[in-house]
Formats: sequence, structure tokens, C-alpha cells
Amino acid sequence: MKITASLPDYNQVAQELLAVFYFDNAESASFTALKKANGNLVDSLLERKIIKSTSGHITSLFGHADLPAQNILIVGCGKRDEFNENAFIKTIKSLAAEVKKTSSTSIAIPIDDIKPANHTAQWCAEKTVESLLTAMYEYDATKSVKAEPTTLTSVSLLADEQNLELSIKTGKSMAHGINLARELGNLPANVCDPAYLAEQATNLADAYDEIEVEVIEESQMEEMGMGAFLAVSRGSEKAGKIIILKYNGGSESQQPYVLVGKGLTFDSGGISIKPAAGMEEMKWDMLGAASVFGVMNAIAELKPALNVIGVVATAENMVSGGATRPGDVVTCMNGKTVEIINTDAEGRLVLCDTLTYVERFNPASVIDIATLTGAIVIGLGHHATAVYANSDDLQQQLLSAGKAAWDRGWPMPLWDDYKEELKSPYADFRNVGSRAGGSITAAMYLSEFTKNYTWAHLDIAGTGWSNAKDGASGRPVGMLTQYLLDRIQ
Ligand code: BES
Ligand code: MN
Ligand code: ZN
Repeated sequence: MKITASLPDYNQVAQELLAVFYFDNAESASFTALKKANGNLVDSLLERKIIKSTSGHITSLFGHADLPAQNILIVGCGKRDEFNENAFIKTIKSLAAEVKKTSSTSIAIPIDDIKPANHTAQWCAEKTVESLLTAMYEYDATKSVKAEPTTLTSVSLLADEQNLELSIKTGKSMAHGINLARELGNLPANVCDPAYLAEQATNLADAYDEIEVEVIEESQMEEMGMGAFLAVSRGSEKAGKIIILKYNGGSESQQPYVLVGKGLTFDSGGISIKPAAGMEEMKWDMLGAASVFGVMNAIAELKPALNVIGVVATAENMVSGGATRPGDVVTCMNGKTVEIINTDAEGRLVLCDTLTYVERFNPASVIDIATLTGAIVIGLGHHATAVYANSDDLQQQLLSAGKAAWDRGWPMPLWDDYKEELKSPYADFRNVGSRAGGSITAAMYLSEFTKNYTWAHLDIAGTGWSNAKDGASGRPVGMLTQYLLDRIQ
């Protein structure tokens, strides 16, 4: 898709479609231009309440406008002073849905008209591109009837500011990363298993010179003493893997930023089996891993001068005669022992050994991303990603990256008060606390394995997806990509 910027000169705009934004209590430049060209028509449509300012409402004027762009989509935007980032994204998404229906090939979008307070044209350009391209995504991989391919090939962003090239590029790469994460997430567990994820990693390394891939198999995990990881993968016929994607964009002396994704391609709970209702949702238990793929894809396209290592801890949590029993004690790679009280608290087990493993990279920071607990869905719902960190600076950097990318997080505590719950009479720790503060005790467990570097943990059980119809959200690819881009010196 060709996306460019041009000036909002409505007598020059020659795209097939032109978006015109209509607010309740303020007149946008595009609406003024339309009124100038077709005053009587607009007045009559307003009078008959056909044009509405209701947020997301669209009036199509095809072939009637006396402007070079003959087909107009008038998009209702609500009140100008209430038009915030959420409204911006909703507006672009409803516009995209309408464009999809029209089979048009080109559109002009006057982004200056819909700037939320305190945002630049650059932000608007990036988010318009990202929202448009993510709105075009449709899952069809396992359907016999495929989605109609989009006919749109050219988008022109109308803005006085013309220095938008980098923002357009960033928006595109963010969208590609988000859509990749969604696709991997939406695939069923019989297709997207640990071997499939390893194959995707190889594909990424084949596509980009800057990316190398390495896969650690179970035999190597045994040699390294990853008893916690293996306690999970042992219940499944599918072998667990640790997939390592290295992006080398910086100098050799630059410490890498490390991302570690939870990649349970299915979580049945193991012997502590989950109830049947809703168990199909546990194909999404690899969304942390999916987001690592998404970020690595975005980074490979944007090529920042950084070193980034994406690590995917992937396995399947299943029930079998070989599966781990509640009460089993295993030894982790760092020598600590864990009493596995609940085999459904498996994410922290695959992650703890992977987090010990990444010490060898001498990381600038390590961020793990995991659909770790049902408790965080209750705590923060589907809107805020839980952000834990052993460094206030890192926590703040992630929160502000999330705000800038409009993929927001909320700070959570790592107080040692919560650690009491992880005591065991039979091992150094148990793998679960009580029901109270379940996301925090899970994070506390991980914090025992991340003392040697700057670390953050994102619990995305609430934000990675919210329902079957919408599928995977692609979060927090935006937050993490922004965090990395903010680290460029
Ligand atoms: N993958 C789940 C967490 C989860 C639950 C994500 C619901 C999304 C929606 C995780 O492995 C799990 O089962 N956690 C348990 C932990 C408990 C046994 C301490 C949970 O949250 O119930
Ligand atoms: Mn589980
Ligand atoms: Zn899980």
C-alpha cells in the first residue's frame, strides 16, 4: 500500500475517496471545503439529519460533490473538545470499515482535522496508518471461504506538516507487527504449536539479514538443568522449545534489549485441569510469544541501531501419564527448587528457567510478556496491561511508551510482603500463592529469577485478547516497539 502525505488543498485532492470529518460543535477544514463546493446539498442533508455528528456515523456522498475527489465519506466525530485518542482510533477504524465496503482504490484523509489535544501531526499520521492497516486484517487461515482482499492501494494523509515519512513508516511497521501477532494468536493450537513457532522464526531470519535464529531443544534444556520448564512440556507429545531471535542493528558492544514471551500454544491446565467451558480460549496462551514475533518483525523492518533479542518459551500444557503431579518438586536452572502445587500455574515455570537462561546475554533490560493470570483480567479488565518492574525507571519507560503508542499499561507493585505466600515446607518455593493478588504473587515468583538484571513483567492475560469475535489484539506490540524506538541514542 502506497501511503503519502500532501497538503490539504481540496481543489487538488484527486483520490477516489475523500474523508470529511464532521464535529458537533466545531467546523473542520474538510467540512468547510465541502460546504464551499456544495453548500445547498450539505445544508439540505444537515436539515434532514442525514449527516450526523454521532461518533462513527458515516454519510456517503458518491458522485455528487463538486470537488476533484468525487466520492465523499462524511464521518461523524462527536464533540470536538471530547475528541481524544480513543475517539481518533475509533474514527479511523469506522472509516476503514466503510472503505472496505466501497471497493475503492484510493483515499485522502485530512488528519489535521482530527488531532486530539496535545498530539502532533506525526502522531496522527502514525496512528492513522496503524489503525487503517490493522482494521484491514481479517482472519481466514482456517476457513475455506477466504476474505476479500482489500482494493485500497493508495492513501494520502492531508496535513500542513509534510515531514511525515518516518511516522508513516513506523505506523506501517507497527501494524505489520500487530497483525502478525494477531494471526499467530488466532491460529488454533493444532496448527500453531511449538514446532510451528520455530518455523516462523526461521522464516523471519530468512527474510531479514539482521535476524538470526537459534532453537534450544528439550535435550539441551535437560543438560542445562531446566527442571521447571521440562516439568511443563513433559505432559505433551509436542516437544517444548526455546526460540531465540537475535536482531543485530547496534554495535557489538551495545547491550541487547531482551524480550521473553510466554508461548504456551495450549494450556489445558495439566493434571490441575481447567473446566471445559471456555477452555478453547487457552489457544491464546501464547500471545506473549506472538507479541515477541510482532515486535521482532517491526524492528526488522524499521532497522533501529539497537541490539534486540526476542526469546520465545514455547510448550504445551497437557494431561498424560507422564505429566507433572501436584506436589512434585523440581529443580530450576538456577538451582532453586519448586513445589508444583498447581500444574495450571505453568507459565511461571517455563518462564523462570528461560529468564535464568537470558542472563548470559548481559542484557540492558529484560521484559517478559505473558498471559500469566486470570487474576489480572479481574483486576484491570481488558484495557490496561499490568506493568511490573524491579526498576522504577524501566517501569516508567514502559508506561510512557505505552501512552505514546496508545497501547497503555498500569503500574503494579512487587513488594516483598507478597512473597510470604510462596513459601513451601518441601522446597524453596511453591508455584502458587492464595487467590488474593494472584497476578502479583505470580510476578513475585518471577522476580526470584531476575535479580541479576533490570527486568519488567507484562501480564497481558486481559489485553492480549478479550473475546472470540475480535480475536487476538496484537498488544503489547505497540508499547514494546515504542519502548525500543525510544532507546535509540
Ligand atoms: N494461562 C493461564 C492464565 C489465564 C487465565 C490467561 C485466563 C487468560 C485467561 C495461566 O496459565 C493459569 O492457568 N493461571 C492460573 C494460575 C493459578 C492456578 C494460580 C489462573 O490464573 O487461574
Ligand atoms: Mn495455566
Ligand atoms: Zn497458562
